[in-house]
Amino acid sequence: MSKVNDSGKEKQVSVKVEALLKKMSLEEKVGQLNQVGGAAFSPGPAAEDQIRKGGAGSVLWLNDTQKFNELQKIAIEESPSGIPLLFALDVIHGYRTIFPVPLAMAASWDPDVPEKSQAVAAKEARAAGLHWTFGPMLDICRDARWGRIVEGAGEDPYLGSAMAAAQVRGFQGDDVTDPERMLACAKHFAGYGYSEGGRDYDPVYLSESQLRNIVLPPFKAAVDAGVETFMSAYMDLNDVPATGNRFLLRKVLREEWGFDGFVVSDAFAVANMVIQGHAKDRREAALRGLKSGMNMDMSSYTYTENAAQLVADGVLTEAELDELVRPILTIKFKMGLFEKPYVDETLLEKVIALPEHRATSRWSAQRSMVLLRNEGGLLPLSKHVKKIAVIGPVADSMQATEGSWMVFGHTPTAVTVLQGIRTKLPNVEVTYASGPEIRRDIPSWFESLMAGQERKPEQTPAESEAAFQSALETAKAADQVIMVLGETDIMAGEAASRASLDLPGRQEELLKAVSALGKPVVLVLLNGRPLSINWAAENIPAILEAWEPGTEGGNAVADILFGDANPGGKLPVTFPRRGSHAPLYYARNTTHSPEGSPMYNPRYWDGLPVPLYPFGFGLSYTTFEFSNLKVSSEKIKVGESLTVTFDVTNTGKLAGDEVAQLYIHQKYGTDTRPMRELKGFERITLQPGEKKTVTFKLGKDELTYWSTNANAWIQDPASFDLWAGSDSQASLHAEFEVTA
Ligand code: BGC
Repeated sequence: MSKVNDSGKEKQVSVKVEALLKKMSLEEKVGQLNQVGGAAFSPGPAAEDQIRKGGAGSVLWLNDTQKFNELQKIAIEESPSGIPLLFALDVIHGYRTIFPVPLAMAASWDPDVPEKSQAVAAKEARAAGLHWTFGPMLDICRDARWGRIVEGAGEDPYLGSAMAAAQVRGFQGDDVTDPERMLACAKHFAGYGYSEGGRDYDPVYLSESQLRNIVLPPFKAAVDAGVETFMSAYMDLNDVPATGNRFLLRKVLREEWGFDGFVVSDAFAVANMVIQGHAKDRREAALRGLKSGMNMDMSSYTYTENAAQLVADGVLTEAELDELVRPILTIKFKMGLFEKPYVDETLLEKVIALPEHRATSRWSAQRSMVLLRNEGGLLPLSKHVKKIAVIGPVADSMQATEGSWMVFGHTPTAVTVLQGIRTKLPNVEVTYASGPEIRRDIPSWFESLMAGQERKPEQTPAESEAAFQSALETAKAADQVIMVLGETDIMAGEAASRASLDLPGRQEELLKAVSALGKPVVLVLLNGRPLSINWAAENIPAILEAWEPGTEGGNAVADILFGDANPGGKLPVTFPRRGSHAPLYYARNTTHSPEGSPMYNPRYWDGLPVPLYPFGFGLSYTTFEFSNLKVSSEKIKVGESLTVTFDVTNTGKLAGDEVAQLYIHQKYGTDTRPMRELKGFERITLQPGEKKTVTFKLGKDELTYWSTNANAWIQDPASFDLWAGSDSQASLHAEFEVTA
């Protein structure tokens, strides 16, 4: 669409919005700012009555196509101004066809993976009648203990920004009237991934430098990609709740970035400001939210209770209220909801049956997996074995395979790893034993919300032992053992932080016992966060990080294990050796003595905080060589750009993917800068013997940072190191200088 048409359309929408605002009552305006909790979650007045009065702008926690139409009919036909509702839900990595969790998609280092996956998610969700997803989650996280690390793109702002933009493009496309796309929501604004100690919901303290250089870039990338909505975070950021945070919501988001969509709070977060101690009561919480530019109250009903009175009392003007309502109405007009408010109830069944959705999911999962170890080329395995034992508590778990953050009401239908292997090898005897169960020490309150996920009674010690022995017997009788270990779906995600990063339960004990049998053992990990698998990393020859790979996960694992796909994913996050080493990340500053020198040792005397696997790491069934690193000019002036090129050669015998990565280090300057920072990456496919030259630009965008000393964005004249290679410890080195 041309810009002229765009602005013509914008004008038409704006005329409609202003005309509607003029005829709306104060109560109706407040209603647009209210998001009503559907189904069992509604703590407030019954949804239907609210809607009938014009008291709701949106509904969430409902996943029922017919009900959407019923509620929409009430809004359109019975509410005073007949304004359509926006139906919203967390569609985080798929609606019916589930894709790898976002952390896994980031491990593809291929923005096409989240873009294509989220496009399918949007198409299915939209066919179900949903308009708006609460994703993507853009919280940079450097602390693997935090459960919600699974929902994001890992530790790095550059990779995170690429994944943020890709997800927004996937969900929204480039035209909000497209009936196969849905509104995206950049969340949680901002800093949630830095909760102290990795404890979910705990406060966050971040310097402006950390905020602007690390945490905010993915959100800015989402704005640049056209994201229509934002969600505020739960916690305090530097002692001010994110939900009432004018610095974030007004200064950064609106004034600096020019965002003109709307912001929804996280669930109950407006009222939470009372608990947080930022508001004396709910009235004051409403006032703080409204004044700071928080448009929509997610189900705390604080606005509906108080906003009209605040206007009547003269502490809030109607113009201020209009400013908050305007972008909500604008989106509804822009999407064409006034013309087409209902969903065709026969559509969903047709859409979810499309085989290409499952094919995309399988492709996505293959590209997301990371080969962590492959001693002696044990993988890929031969398809010509007699008997394979598949062992582990997540080997046949649909929940663990589809992973964390299921769509409300969704019943998992994943192909498990066991099923995937059986399908791949119809003529091989594939035996299975789960081994002892794994479960959380403290149950998750999410369990009670998830359909079909009622947990069995806890195993007694005797049952656990019997399961352990039976797993050993199963392994003993096989020629090849595939251990599938990790975490269940509720061990990562919201309210799922862990103090330890070890394999939970008796899994490592079982792994050791099976390994002692002397059979060839492959370890497949299904998990939502980095795990400190130190023993396995030394003793199990082949390890595949499969994450929580989605509906087609088991097929994708089998594709990789038996050589029908060659793994090419890379870690989007550092794997620490211990939970107590978190936060651990590659892009750190140093005081003295870099890693590797004896003076590094005082960091801890009981185990050095060096990564088990570094950021960017991942192997392939083939090998690659990096060479010929060149810069187009060794000296540039501030503001100018240079080009970096280097060659990647496939030196092995199979076709495969490598992710070419470029890191820089600014050696000195107004502020100190991280020892390494990712500034370019490209996933490429190379045939055996093939060589490709990759090219990256380094200029103002890449070399500018937020300086504490200057209290501004600056680009320093300085010298820079440059590294090119296959992970954050790449050694191919060059230098360049930026002069004033
Ligand atoms: C989560 C959000 C989510 C919201 C709605 C909250 O508990 O923090 O990420 O979008 O619930 O389900």
